[in-house]
Amino acid sequence: MDDVVDVDLGARSYGVRIGPGLVGRAGQEIAPLLKRPQVAVITEETVAGLHLEALRDGLSAAGIGMQALVLPPGEKTKSWAHLEQSVEWLLAQKVERGDIVVAFGGGVIGDLAGFAAAILRRGVRFVQMPTSLLAQVDSSVGGKTGINSPAGKNLVGAFHQPSLVLADIDVLGTLDARDFLSGYGEVVKYGLLGDAAFFAWLEANGPALAAGDRALRQEAVRRSVAMKAGIVARDETEQGERALLNLGHTFGHALEAATGYGDRLLHGEGVAIGCALAFELSARLGLCAQETPGRVRAHLRAMGMKTDVSDIPGELPDADALLALMAQDKKVVDGRMRYVLARDIGDAFVAEEVASATVHEVLEDALSGALKGGGA
Ligand code: GLY
Repeated sequence: MDDVVDVDLGARSYGVRIGPGLVGRAGQEIAPLLKRPQVAVITEETVAGLHLEALRDGLSAAGIGMQALVLPPGEKTKSWAHLEQSVEWLLAQKVERGDIVVAFGGGVIGDLAGFAAAILRRGVRFVQMPTSLLAQVDSSVGGKTGINSPAGKNLVGAFHQPSLVLADIDVLGTLDARDFLSGYGEVVKYGLLGDAAFFAWLEANGPALAAGDRALRQEAVRRSVAMKAGIVARDETEQGERALLNLGHTFGHALEAATGYGDRLLHGEGVAIGCALAFELSARLGLCAQETPGRVRAHLRAMGMKTDVSDIPGELPDADALLALMAQDKKVVDGRMRYVLARDIGDAFVAEEVASATVHEVLEDALSGALKGGGA
């Protein structure tokens, strides 16, 4: 019933267990990691309201006690203030070096709690229990942890791999449709960057999966995690191949920054629009076929997702300002922008020499709505 994907990192290897009912079975899965029968859980209010009692029951079924810190929901929680609160709370709970911290929530909680575990007593182990689709397919796997700084998103952090990831497919049923589809932006990204057959599978199965088919959801999470696990095992600290996971993110982060990292544009929505723009740029540079960006957009559109820049409500800055925001991205190396571009669906690569005039042209056309009808 469960799938288990191994993240192969030598002595720091771990499994990503994916299946239904894992919150209720958390105790039996976590017990083998424990030196004493208690865990410290960091979560947020929305997840706590829906699932914290089920987790408490699941742990106590295996004789494991639990203390929980319930933080406010939302991106603002990934802050210095909440990091300090989390670390001080863990110390107040007398969490020892051999104990386990459980991150129970979406990407914000996973990143924050993982970073708190990384620096607490110079590093304690932690378990990721991702509750959003985005966290299940991306942020809970691979060991990137951290917080935002006033200078930018994810600028403070550490690589700290979890000891176990438990992705309960059932909790996805409590996400609202917009949050689910935002996470789906990261699922599509995997097909686009490295697995054309997976993208074709998503074209065929995406609508049923979004409508609630649990077996299809589990398969989509499994295939996404398997791809990420392979990339992380080959390039844990992003010296090369791992940068492919940033497909869509350079455009996406600029759009997120321009819209204030809030409700106007969720992260996965920015990634989806960014993927469409990355394919548009690839086509204009003659790297992929002219019709390929249209196929990418057609799938996003069929899923009812934000697809084009014009789907973002409210005013946006002009192409110059968006280009300046892209240049602030942390993927800039030696002052040069790096773009993840594609030769085809499922065949992405990192490009360093991209004419900014062409990027500017793509942004101008995106802002004017010229791409919407099919693009160049
Ligand atoms: N979310 C991108 C990565 O983990 O590398």
